[in-house]
Amino acid sequence: MTKKTPKGNADVSAMWGGRFDGGPAAVMEEINASIGFDKRLFAQDIAGSKAHAAMLVRQGIISEEDGDAILGGLETILGEMEDGSFDFKTALEDIHMNVEARLAELVGEAAGRLHTGRSRNDQVATDLKLWVRDALDGLDAGLSHLQAALIDQAEAHAATVMPGFTHLQAAQPVTLGHHLLAYVEMFGRDRGRVADCRRRLNECPLGAAALAGTSFAIDREMTAEALGFERPSANSLDAVSDRDFALEFLSLGAILAVHLSRLAEEMVLWCTDGFGFVALSDAFTTGSSIMPQKRNPDAAELVRAKAGRVIGALNTLLVVMKGLPLAYGKDMQEDKEPVFDAADSLALSVAAVTGMVGDAVFDAGRMKEAAGRGYTTATDLADWLVRTLGMPFRQAHHATGRLVRLAEDRGCGLEDLTLDDMRSVETAITADVFAVLGVENSVKSRASQGGTAPDTVRRAVAEARRRFVE
Ligand code: ARG
Repeated sequence: MTKKTPKGNADVSAMWGGRFDGGPAAVMEEINASIGFDKRLFAQDIAGSKAHAAMLVRQGIISEEDGDAILGGLETILGEMEDGSFDFKTALEDIHMNVEARLAELVGEAAGRLHTGRSRNDQVATDLKLWVRDALDGLDAGLSHLQAALIDQAEAHAATVMPGFTHLQAAQPVTLGHHLLAYVEMFGRDRGRVADCRRRLNECPLGAAALAGTSFAIDREMTAEALGFERPSANSLDAVSDRDFALEFLSLGAILAVHLSRLAEEMVLWCTDGFGFVALSDAFTTGSSIMPQKRNPDAAELVRAKAGRVIGALNTLLVVMKGLPLAYGKDMQEDKEPVFDAADSLALSVAAVTGMVGDAVFDAGRMKEAAGRGYTTATDLADWLVRTLGMPFRQAHHATGRLVRLAEDRGCGLEDLTLDDMRSVETAITADVFAVLGVENSVKSRASQGGTAPDTVRRAVAEARRRFVE
């Protein structure tokens, strides 16, 4: 006995049902529909339709009356979607058909002329490009605010000494301002990738129609210009099958999310008891329901985790696109959710990190104390032996190692060794060696270009403001 497949609620689709006798199975309707998520493209969809309708009128493909009716109807629909009164229907599959069906209710027969010389394939590519373009612009603005917050803190802490780490082991003293400016550079490269993506994205697919172009005398330059694109895309097959712009958005987003997660992780580490370098504000931390003393860096932890979602989104779309034959395939409907989810995660993460950085109160005393622990000025001592005594660096490295060992045995810092201790290892050492052993002298001496010296950092702050904020 064969089971009957349950039928969906819809009758045969008015949009494409000409050759069908029956409606789709309920499960078909469910798997096929994208309206649940592509409703987020409504503003872009209507902008694309307006540009297309105006072009059809100018080219004499539809009448001015029909064009006016269509444009008026689209305005009404936009208003309904903006104020939340629009009734989105799953049976109508997607945003394109929801708009067109409502247009038919509003303006009658003229609505049926809007789809002349276009297809949902070029329509959806255009909509998503417009959406991603807005997301890129939003991300760029958000990143510039984040950079501004980092630069302000870097300026305030140009001379605040902290341990610099390699292998998460105290390595050499650095200034906090210098450390924060490292992130400004990272986000600067992220913005560079945003700009690259936007530039390559900015070709208009509209008018590619289903895949082969159209027999109507459309003007693709006109629609491209109306929608703020640089030019129409060159090849109709490519135009409807290309999702590189979404992949590039997700790639740059994944790299950005990784950057954000590194900063977030440092905040998590730095506010632990062990480090005690920073206090995060109440606004970006939470308490524990059982342990009254706790202040948890939840926002930073969530930013750290969001990287997983964004990287996942990139992976999702790469796998969806892999091996797809030209041109459009319904597989590509699966492009939207990862793009939306990544865009939301990124916008939220950038905003949260900006707030967190702006509010952070750094403990300069704790940082300086930690900077002095762990023989972080050993390199300064070795450099002094090279500079003052003319020792080859390798030999100086060895002598310094022995002095570190001596200090370790005594349970003291390098600067606490006596001159006699020093001379027991290297007879030529003089008392001026002590000048380079303090952490403050150490950072001051690193005035090479791109280095950590407070004055160098102050110059870098001004330069970063000029490059990224003003
Ligand atoms: N909802 C579809 C998508 O997001 C629109 C394009 C559908 N095209 C088609 N030929 N069925 O990809």
